[in-house]
Amino acid sequence: MQEFFEHVKNGLSKSPKQLSSRYFYDAKGDALFQSIMQLEEYYLPRCEMQIIKSKGEQMAQDISAVHPSLQIVELGAGDGRKTKHLLKQFKPYIDALEYLALDISVNVLATNKAEIRNEVEQIQHKSLAGNYFDTYQDLPTTPYGRLVLFLGANIGNYPTPDAIGFFKFIRSNLKADDYFLVAFDLVKHPRKILAAYDDSQGVTKRFNLNLLERMNRELGADFDVEQFDHFPFYDPLTGIASSQIVSLKAQTVEFADGFSACFDAFEAIHTEISKKFFWDDIEEIAHQSQMKIVHSYLDDHNGYTLVLFQPHGQVGTPK
Ligand code: AVJ
Repeated sequence: MQEFFEHVKNGLSKSPKQLSSRYFYDAKGDALFQSIMQLEEYYLPRCEMQIIKSKGEQMAQDISAVHPSLQIVELGAGDGRKTKHLLKQFKPYIDALEYLALDISVNVLATNKAEIRNEVEQIQHKSLAGNYFDTYQDLPTTPYGRLVLFLGANIGNYPTPDAIGFFKFIRSNLKADDYFLVAFDLVKHPRKILAAYDDSQGVTKRFNLNLLERMNRELGADFDVEQFDHFPFYDPLTGIASSQIVSLKAQTVEFADGFSACFDAFEAIHTEISKKFFWDDIEEIAHQSQMKIVHSYLDDHNGYTLVLFQPHGQVGTPK
């Protein structure tokens, strides 16, 4: 709460105004994101599931050749409905399989455990609730090989320098032969990308504007949501899809503690980037973070990929 308010005060005092997409996900934001994942226009989850179903066994073979026993650590694990399909394909190739689900939400971790224990026999399931920047540094040690998962194209929310920082952070808890598997949404026709963030039912609009409602609920702000609009756009030059919230008139918003934010007519708040990757971008991130690409598993349309990385060069002593 306090952290959120600090972020808001800081972000709305900047020029241009900006708020982070990590605050999208309160209970209502979680539910709206679930609806987004059902949208025809939001192609990402279907691509990812297709790769898991068609390439999961190949992944299991590639990784079990190096690690007969495995600790799989998933960052932002979610409800496990997707990951269970991956784990199911790993189990026959792995002697001892331990799965650690890291997520901010205790509720979602309970669902994760139920889903995965039901589907994957003899899996050792552990939940670590909290911000993964904390929990990842505090993993139970393991004699097994480690595979870290970062799925859902979540890496796209990081500007490239932050993505490199994130990769370095992951690397700091990997041994030389451990793995990092990351989902990247690749560049494709700009209209297809734009439609994914500008759906015809307006679910993404509600998702973006929920940030204003969250400030009303949690910070006692008085945003009149009707007086703001969702404005997504995509730049094929950089591969960056951006979402903004545009003020439809000049207005002042008051918060409970006396903080206020003034908007000019048609002034915008930047809320999210969803980067689409060129292959060079992925190579650059790997290079800058001392990782190497060992495999890439593509969907049938070459529009989405799960890339398997390993540390390149010397590593420290991970947990
Ligand atoms: C969960 C970060 C992958 O950027 O595509 C969906 C979030 N934002 N629609 C994305 C999102 C608007 C999503 N990620």
